Amino acid sequence: MASNRIINVSLFGNEIGRIGLDEDQMRSSFQYNPAFLANNTLLNIFPTTGIIKRTEHVQLYSQFNNGTFKGIPPQFADSLPDLFGSIIFKAWLESKNQQTISVLEQLAYVGNRGMGALEYSPAIKIQENTSINLDKIIEVVQEVLDLKRTTGEKSLDHQALLNIFKIGTSAGGARPKILISEEKETGKIIPGDLETSDEYNHYLVKLALDDETNYPREVVEFCYYQIARKVGIRMMDSKLIDDKHFATLRFDRQDGKKKHVLTASGLTGWDYKNPDESSYENLFKLSSFLKIPHAQMEELFKRMVFNLTFGNVDDHLKNHSFIYNKLDYTWQLAPAYDLTYALNPLLNFRNTKRALSVNGKRSGITLNDLLKLADDFTIKNPEGIVKNTFSYKEQLIDLMENHDVPKAVSWKMHESIVELI
Ligand SMILES: Nc1ncnc2c1ncn2[C@@H]1O[C@H](COP(=O)(O)OP(=O)(O)OP(=O)(O)O)[C@@H](O)[C@H]1O
Ligand SMILES: [Mg+2]
Repeated sequence: MASNRIINVSLFGNEIGRIGLDEDQMRSSFQYNPAFLANNTLLNIFPTTGIIKRTEHVQLYSQFNNGTFKGIPPQFADSLPDLFGSIIFKAWLESKNQQTISVLEQLAYVGNRGMGALEYSPAIKIQENTSINLDKIIEVVQEVLDLKRTTGEKSLDHQALLNIFKIGTSAGGARPKILISEEKETGKIIPGDLETSDEYNHYLVKLALDDETNYPREVVEFCYYQIARKVGIRMMDSKLIDDKHFATLRFDRQDGKKKHVLTASGLTGWDYKNPDESSYENLFKLSSFLKIPHAQMEELFKRMVFNLTFGNVDDHLKNHSFIYNKLDYTWQLAPAYDLTYALNPLLNFRNTKRALSVNGKRSGITLNDLLKLADDFTIKNPEGIVKNTFSYKEQLIDLMENHDVPKAVSWKMHESIVELI
C-alpha cells in the first residue's frame, strides 16, 4: 500500500514549507513554500550544512533512514520524541488499541507543542487539561516504565496516560521528564506550555523515579549544575521540586515567546549514535561555521573540560544545542544542559567510552589533546580553564553531601574526577 503523506511546517507564524514521506520508497522530501522564500525573511533558519537548501525545488532525502532521524531531515527529526517520549507514546497508543503510526503522524501529534519553535499542521488535536498532579504523573510514569521492564500484562489508565502524553513526549532524551509552566505571581503549576506568556516560567522537569539505579540522580544533576555555573558555563536557572525532581527553565521559551532551537545533530545530520561523526572537533567546527561569538567558543571549551573532569561521558551531539535569533538571523550556542555524572556510580563500568572524542580518543584524553584543539580554535588560556575547573572538585563533593547524596555515590564520583593537568 502506498503511503505518501505530507505535513506543513511553520515557524513564527510563517508557513515555511512541507515535508513529504514515502514510506514504501523509504524516502522523504522537503519543499519550501515559494511565498515564504519570496518574502526573504527568516534567513538562515536551516544553516547550509548540505541538507536543506534555500530553493523552491523539491528536495529528496533517503540518507536519514535510521533510528535517529526516522527517515526525515534531521532539522525536523529534532521535534520527534526520543526514548522516554517514545515509550509513553507507545503505551498511550496501546491503551487505545492502536499499534503503530507513521513519523509524520507523530509530527502531527507534536503540532504546536514541540520543543523549539517549529510547528506542524494539520495537527492532531488532543483535549487539553489544565491541572496537574505530580504524584499521579509519577505513579503512572513509574507504572509504564515498570511494565517495560517486566513482561506482565496490565492495562494502563488511558486518561492518565493521555495527560502524560501531552506534556511528556515533546522533550527529547532518555530520562523521564515533563514540561510544566509556573505562574510567576502565584506559583501555580499547570501542565505543558499552554500559556506561552510572560506571566509564566516554563520548565523542563526531570522526574525522580524509583528505578533500578536507586540513587538520587536528579539531585546529583542539580549539584553539577551549580558547579558548572561557577566554572563559567551558562545554564538556565534550575531548582529541585520536592527536593528531588530537577526543574530547569526552558531556553526555547523566553519572555513569553518561542525560540527556534536545533541540536548539533539536528543541524548537521550527524547521527549522535555514530562514533565517526561524534567528536568535539566537529562540534567546534559547526560552532565556527555558525559564526557564534568567540566567547561562546571559549565556553564550549569549558563545557568540554567540565565533562572530561567530572565524568560526564554522555556528552553526545544532542546534548548541545544552538538558538536562532530571528532579528538578525544569527545563531548562538544555547545554554548548557544535561551536565551530570552520566553513569550509575553504584555499578562498575569497564572501558567506558565518552560519546564525543577529542583528538580521536574517547578515553585517556590528555592535556596535550586539549591544547591541540585549543590551538586549532584559538582558545585562550586552556591550562587556566583546566586548572580552574578542577579546583571545584571538593566543592562538588561537599555540595552532594549537603544534599544527602549517599556517601557511596559521592565517593565514587570523587574517585573518578580527572586531573587533566
Ligand atoms: N533548559 C532547557 N531548555 C530547553 N530545552 C532543553 C533544556 N534542557 C534540555 N532540553 C532539551 O530536552 C532534551 C532532553 O533533556 P536532557 O538532555 O537533559 O535529558 P536526558 O533524558 O538526560 O537526555 P539523555 O538521553 O542525553 O540522557 C535535550 O536534548 C534538549 O533538547
Ligand atoms: Mg540529553
